This record gives sequence, C-alpha cells and structure tokens, in this order.
Amino acid sequence: MSRSNIAFVLTGSVAAYKACEAISRLVQRGHQVRTVASASALRFVGAATLEGLTGERVLSDLFEPGSALEHINLGRWADLVVVCPATANTLNRLSAGLADDLAGALFLAHDRKKPFLVAPAMNPNMWAHPATRASVARLTDWGVRFIAVGRGRTACGEVGDGRLAEPGAIVAEVEATLSRPARRLRVLVTSGGTSEPVDGVRVLSNTSTGRTGARIADHLSQAGHEVVLLRSASSIPAEGPARQETFVSFSDLDQALGRVLGAERFDAVVHGAAVSDFGIAQIEVAGGVYAPGTGKLPSTGAPALHLKLHPKLVDGLRARSANPGLAVVAFKLTRGAGSDEARAAVEDLFGHSGADLVVHNDLSERSGSEAFPSTLHFRDGRPSLACPTRTELASELERLLVEFAAPSSVPT
Ligand SMILES: Cc1cc2nc3c(=O)[nH]c(=O)nc-3n(C[C@H](O)[C@H](O)[C@H](O)COP(=O)(O)O)c2cc1C
Repeated sequence: MSRSNIAFVLTGSVAAYKACEAISRLVQRGHQVRTVASASALRFVGAATLEGLTGERVLSDLFEPGSALEHINLGRWADLVVVCPATANTLNRLSAGLADDLAGALFLAHDRKKPFLVAPAMNPNMWAHPATRASVARLTDWGVRFIAVGRGRTACGEVGDGRLAEPGAIVAEVEATLSRPARRLRVLVTSGGTSEPVDGVRVLSNTSTGRTGARIADHLSQAGHEVVLLRSASSIPAEGPARQETFVSFSDLDQALGRVLGAERFDAVVHGAAVSDFGIAQIEVAGGVYAPGTGKLPSTGAPALHLKLHPKLVDGLRARSANPGLAVVAFKLTRGAGSDEARAAVEDLFGHSGADLVVHNDLSERSGSEAFPSTLHFRDGRPSLACPTRTELASELERLLVEFAAPSSVPT
C-alpha cells in the first residue's frame, strides 16, 4: 500500500516492547512513523530505541521548548494516530477529555475525519473494570477504533482478556484502516453456537465462542462498512459499532436470517455461526415420550434423544437475500483432519452452499484467543490463503469482500 504518515503514541505498559516491533514493521513497509511516548512509556523503552527505529525525534513533553505546538502539528501531519500500547490510565484519561499531556492534547486536537486507533494492553481486571468498559464505549461512540485485545497470560501472570494484540495484527489493523474501503459494504455476520432445547432447562449445544465472528464484525465496521452481527446470546459480543441481534436456537437463527436478509439489501454474508446440524424431535424417558423444549424431564432414567437433521442454513442465504448477487463466506470446522480430508470437506461445502469463499479451521489448532489459524479457500480456484490469526483473517476478508460483492447500496 502507499506510504502514510503515522503518529504512534506509546504509554506505560510492559507491552511497549511489542509496539516497538510493530513500529519497526510499519517503517519497513514504507510508512513514516513519528512517536510520542508518555513519561511512563519511557520507563519501559528508551527514546534511543524509538529514534533508532523511526529516524525521528521522540516527543514526550507537551511543554518542551521549541516543540510547544507539536500536538497540533503532529495531528496535521499524521494520516492516522495509533495509541499502542494504551494503558488503562490513558484510556480513561482520553475518555474524560483531559489534555495535560501530549497523548491527551493530541487526541483533543485530532481532526476527527482521520482515523484514531487504540490498542489497549492491561491486566484483565483493569480491562474488565466498569471505568475502563465505560471509557471504551465512550471512545467508540466518538469514532475511536479499537484493536481487539488478546486473551491469555498477561505480564502480571493473570490469565484473561487484556493482552496487547500481536505486532502483525497491529500492522494489519493500521493498514486496513488507512486503506479506506473503495466501497462501503453492508455485511451480515453470524457468530456463536446455536442451543437446541432438550426440555425447558437443558440444551444441546457446541463449543463455539463467537470470537471469530465478533472480530470480523469489529474489523469490518472499523474499516467503515455497515455491519449487522447476528450472534448467539452466549457468544462474545462485538465491541465496535456493529448493530447486534441475538439468537438462541437453530429456529431463532433461521427466522432471523429470513427476516433480515429479506428486509435489507446486504452485499455479503459472513456465516460464521456454528449451527447445530441436529435438533431434537422427541425424548423418551422413564416410560414417557416428550416433545422438546418444555417442562423439566424426570431424571429417574437415562433419556433417549431422537434427533432430526436440520437443513443447512448456509445453502439458502443467497435465495433468501434481497440481493441475488450476495457474496457468501461459509465456514468449515474440522477436528484433527488431515489435509485431504479437510480439502474434501471444503469442496463439499462449496458444492452445496455455492459460497464464494470458505474459511477452514481445525479445532485441534485453537490455542488461546487469537491464535486460531485458518485457511481461506476460493471457489474460483485461486490458491488458498493462510491466516495465522483471527485479525489477519478479518483483514483478508475485508479486502476480498470489496472485490466479491456486487455494487453496493450504501453511500460511502
Ligand atoms: C511494571 C509495570 C507494568 C505496567 N503495565 C501496565 C499495563 O500493561 N497496562 C496498564 O494499563 N498499566 C500498566 N502499568 C501502570 C501504568 O504504567 C501507570 O498507570 C502509568 O501511570 C501509566 O501512565 P501513562 O498512561 O501516562 O503511560 C504498569 C506499571 C508497572 C510498574
């Protein structure tokens, strides 16, 4: 992509070393990067490192003689500002509109027509704290785009959400944001697993978290597309501005798809939901036969569940859509499949769904929140693309959907 001017703001987190790697990659990819470092950030990485990586002086003091208007000049110069890593302190200060340091002054003086990205990094409790949640919501409302945090072991030894995104994902988000969409698409994303009622208390479900769909929805909406996320009630929500609706069972999702696809003209559907292949027809237990979904079955005997096969919702997406040129992305999950088996499963899905793209991943390769490698397959026979992380998958899909979708109805 073309060379851009990037203002890169570092704040005081151990993850600042990962930001250095992202800066290095951005510079290697031809971008001009100028850094701002909070006083705390400079306790984690030295000014010499940042100057060595960028070839530019590091700005840190709002009142530095000779640089007193740098928060205005830097904002004018930059095509994009990214705060990475963003501490809880800085996030909460930005959302309060405080401007007594360079990061805050740069934020308030920022031309809001240009993108402002934030890549948070903090302890899971800090990330989950209502103060931080409220700040994220407020900043998102103001048009700030968030680079999703990772899940796993943070520097403080706790496990949970709050890790800084990986350098590759940060670079991908920055570049996706800079290359504004040629066309603004309206995209329906589905995510999470359906739950089939056994009785009025118990359900038959699957292990889907909805994290991939949420990440794709966030990426697409942050890149300026209009996104509706249909997600299961128990799945991970999108953090960005996507419009969200929830479903529980196969039948809820089936109805929601019919309603939404018929009423609004979508350019593409990314059908990531893990839809139950089977529903419950009836249950036999303790000498009785019961219809599913009501009461509570006796626990005096082992029940026999009689299952029925559900139709494949992915097969009917285009026929149900108000847009016959709908681009369809289907997902195929395998577990422990060899390459021949996986390829056959993907071909089978192309065969019955008519999808333009199939994302394949294997559950045995899921390790942690971000590392769920997938492979993108093309119906038109192009070589498949490996996507090591969810963010890279989201970024590739955004690029490809603009190519695959028929002309959009949403004004840019
Ligand atoms: C070793 C160490 C690691 C820290 N890591 C983080 C972190 O990852 N995220 C965070 O929000 N704060 C972290 N802090 C606390 C911040 O550095 C502190 O709140 C500081 O005031 C942030 O200032 P700044 O936002 O202006 O950079 C850490 C502090 C120490 C001493």
